[in-house]
Amino acid sequence: MKSLQGKIFATLVVGLGLAGCDDTPSTRLAEAGEAAVERKLDPVQVARGKAVYERHCLECHGVGGQGQPGDWRIRDADGHFPPPPLDDSAHAWHHPTAVLLEVIREGSPAGQGKMPAWDGKLTAQQMQDVVAYIKSLWSDEVYRLWWKVEQQSLEP
Ligand code: HEC
Repeated sequence: MKSLQGKIFATLVVGLGLAGCDDTPSTRLAEAGEAAVERKLDPVQVARGKAVYERHCLECHGVGGQGQPGDWRIRDADGHFPPPPLDDSAHAWHHPTAVLLEVIREGSPAGQGKMPAWDGKLTAQQMQDVVAYIKSLWSDEVYRLWWKVEQQSLEP
């Protein structure tokens, strides 16, 4: 990790409590004119997050975060949106980590949706783990786009 991006990522990773990442092969994405994004998700954490997901989230967000049959962009009879996919086919990757954690903690704004609040039901560590699992569902391409969103969110 010599690049500035690498340093920022290291800081972010530690900040998220994902410290302890090992040196498993990571994917480097270097495209012309694009800074390389090093993808480092701790496989142990991702496995923990998968277990949290399968216990608490799968019933709504579907196997592997693929969502439910039907269009997640169409409101149901109550005027609420169905649970969206959390893989890279929908919207989750448009959000920086802090926002994903907030949605999980707080759920839908009161009365405006059907995402439960997990505050008090999951620990902060479990929420971070499940976010790591969600990120593991994204393709390298989408991860790279998310990375830019994350960087922008960290700018002062
Ligand atoms: C009872 C069904 C249900 C369960 C269980 C559930 N969700 Fe959701 N989730 C939703 C719905 C519905 C939305 C859309 C929220 C809205 O429209 O306000 C949502 C939205 C989200 C979003 C925002 C996605 C985006 O594209 O902006 C994230 C992230 C998320 N859920 C993660 C989780 C996680 C992690 C769990 C398990 C800990 C979980 N959800 C469990 C129904 C559920």
